Amino acid sequence: MAIVNILQDFPILNQVNKDGKRLCFLDSAATSQKPETVIESMNHYYRTMNANIHRGIYQIAEQATEAYEKSREKIQEFIHAGSSREIIFTRNTTESINLVANTWGKQNLKKGDLIILSEMEHHANLIPWQILASDKGISLEFIPVQENGQLNLSEYQRLLNLQPKLVCVSGMSNVLGTVPPVKQMAVDAHKAGALFLVDGAQMIPHRKVDVQDIDADFFAFSAHKMLGPTGIGALYGKEALLESMPPFLGGGDMISKVFLRSFTTNELPYKFEAGTPSIAEAIGFGAAIDYLNQIGMDAIWQHEVEITKYAIQELQKVPGLKIVGPTDGVRGSAVSFTLDYAHPHDVAQILDSEYICVRAGHHCAMPLHTRFSVPATTRASFYLYNTLDEVDRLKTGLEKVYHFFG
Ligand code: ALA
Repeated sequence: MAIVNILQDFPILNQVNKDGKRLCFLDSAATSQKPETVIESMNHYYRTMNANIHRGIYQIAEQATEAYEKSREKIQEFIHAGSSREIIFTRNTTESINLVANTWGKQNLKKGDLIILSEMEHHANLIPWQILASDKGISLEFIPVQENGQLNLSEYQRLLNLQPKLVCVSGMSNVLGTVPPVKQMAVDAHKAGALFLVDGAQMIPHRKVDVQDIDADFFAFSAHKMLGPTGIGALYGKEALLESMPPFLGGGDMISKVFLRSFTTNELPYKFEAGTPSIAEAIGFGAAIDYLNQIGMDAIWQHEVEITKYAIQELQKVPGLKIVGPTDGVRGSAVSFTLDYAHPHDVAQILDSEYICVRAGHHCAMPLHTRFSVPATTRASFYLYNTLDEVDRLKTGLEKVYHFFG
């Protein structure tokens, strides 16, 4: 395996239940576990420099501001953005996408305009556009997902002929593991005159991201899926676009001058960061990036490729198990499946009795499940701390499900 001996860095993963079973966490697509360094970085902030940022003129407030802004720079480097002014702290991917819909979308789209999405989007990259579409009379079209879990790219080309204003796709499906060719899709979108937004929630925890190489106009992501805390995420946007956009939320920090009946906006990135932000969480986000950098994104991707390949090979030996999504080629580590004799909730419950955590349901992607004519799937999703032994434990757990229900 590309990565070994990191379990000791994750306190929760050393937890053992009353039957002597170690926690087997296979739900990192929902949220990842946190290394000690991330937990400690937030403790350190609260213990030594808890103060509001961008306001205080005393030492600990300056230290807090510096730590917060340092995290922004770490994010900028991590995704290779041209400037830290292009990194907006948000609560999560969902808020990042809502920001674009409510600012760029409201300012630039009008009745009859078209946005292209795909059938595999999770709700964060679907509902904000549905709300905007119904407010403004905009049309939505969807790149179909093929039976093998890949996007139908010839249909994408056809939709581009309809002159969309915006294309928004996931960089990696949270259900299927599909990895769309976002770089080429961005080239095609730009040729058609559209902007290109990547929902990076599932992509950035697992693969090296270079927003300039992709030439994404917007890239949205959350810290909690990449070893960081909940409650903090980011939006990358090209500087000229962000400059041209109106603010999202109003309040402190996003202003420059305030009068009783009007205000002027602060410069980037603060224009989009109203109110006291999640300071400890931003610092924890920076610590998560340090941890990922120390292991190396290439090593993380290699590790997951190996685990996912082994998981697909072994799970297919379980009677009646059908994987929903690609079973070969470049794909992410979310492996969703059905068993023709057991409901996903029963599967998850039996696995839980083995101290194995998987997600059961629609994984915030209901239309995709409708596309595959299943109400729900069971999903195992792997990350850098998972091992081949855990795939074996999952398979043994699923054999127990077979003996119970099959
Ligand atoms: N979208 C998240 C998941 O896949 C919550 O579980």
